[in-house]
Amino acid sequence: MISIIEETENKEQYMELLLIGDEQEDMITKYLSRGRLFVMQDDEKVLAVCVVKDEGNGRLEIKNIAVSPDSQRKGYGRKMLSFIENKFSGSFRSLFLGTGDSPLTVPFYESCGFRRSGVIKNFFIDNYDHPIIEAGVQLCDMICFEKELPDNYGTVSEGITEI
Ligand SMILES: CC(C)(COP(=O)(O)OP(=O)(O)OC[C@H]1O[C@@H](n2cnc3c(N)ncnc32)[C@H](O)[C@@H]1OP(=O)(O)O)[C@@H](O)C(=O)NCCC(=O)NCCS
Repeated sequence: MISIIEETENKEQYMELLLIGDEQEDMITKYLSRGRLFVMQDDEKVLAVCVVKDEGNGRLEIKNIAVSPDSQRKGYGRKMLSFIENKFSGSFRSLFLGTGDSPLTVPFYESCGFRRSGVIKNFFIDNYDHPIIEAGVQLCDMICFEKELPDNYGTVSEGITEI
């Protein structure tokens, strides 16, 4: 059975998987302490993790999402995003995130209904201490994505917790 739990105690134990979603450990450590970490698992292993953080004005940022390498492309990433949308609709207006201009991630967010909302030039050059290479290309600009949550902001506090 697949379930999603919120980890509040030993968040660092998921660092190996979190590093798949974001290569720089000191950046992860910064948002992990104040962000909320959700872990998807089946009876045997951890399938995916996601960290979200309240950025004010009804906006929730996806700071990290990662599916374990041998479980990718099986729908778990989409399932995790849909869980986050359900859980936080009512308490947030929108979800947003930034990602590299990569053929591995951009189609994923587009297929999950996110729209491009901006570009931060040279983000990966200016903020990371080493070149980030994805699909053989060095990441340079950050592509910003946003998705409005269903129009019931302020009517409920966090919804379902299990999938
Ligand atoms: C990006 C990631 C979270 C997607 O999760 P996933 O479980 O592999 O993706 P899903 O199976 O839910 O894919 C849903 C849809 O997104 C799109 N998609 C996902 N991965 C894709 C890829 N590599 N290339 C093209 N489209 C892709 C497809 O439309 C897919 O639907 P389909 O399989 O029916 O064609 C996962 O691959 C991952 O952890 N990658 C490494 C870490 C990472 O890059 N994290 C994001 C940091 S911003």
